[in-house]
Amino acid sequence: MAEITFVFLKPEAVRRGLMGEIIARIERKGLRIRAMRLHRMSREEAERLYDVHRGKEFFDRLVRHVTSGPVLLMVVEGPRAVEAMRKLIGATDPVKAQPGTIRGDYGLDITQNVIHAADSPERAVKEMRIFFTEEEVKALWEGVE
Ligand code: CMP
Repeated sequence: MAEITFVFLKPEAVRRGLMGEIIARIERKGLRIRAMRLHRMSREEAERLYDVHRGKEFFDRLVRHVTSGPVLLMVVEGPRAVEAMRKLIGATDPVKAQPGTIRGDYGLDITQNVIHAADSPERAVKEMRIFFTEEEVKALWEGVE
């Protein structure tokens, strides 16, 4: 059964001109990009997005990083899209991520790991709602093929 997930390319991916290559990988996999927008994330949005990491030693560094420049927000659709995207991006730490995965091929370190993808369907909806209106999220879900 198809589902949608929330993905975003981090500021260094945009800055380094990697958007095209990463989008191509997602499309080549057969996943469909249903929504996409360049966005300058506010501190409030970043803190909501990463609420589960609040209080951890890397939290401030993470928030500072994702608010340091424009990010590319995406909603991606496909069969088990959440799991498929997580496989495609690879392990959180790019040094440990397998070559052939997006982080394994383009990531520099655990902060500059180029891409984020929601880790469960519930988180995907929660994260989408930070950046897309209720109506947009509803329409995206209703359009799932
Ligand atoms: P992301 O998939 O965006 O979700 C949470 C982010 O926190 C993760 O990618 C990393 O960039 C960051 N992160 C997770 N663990 C650590 C860590 N131990 N040190 C620094 N950053 C981390």
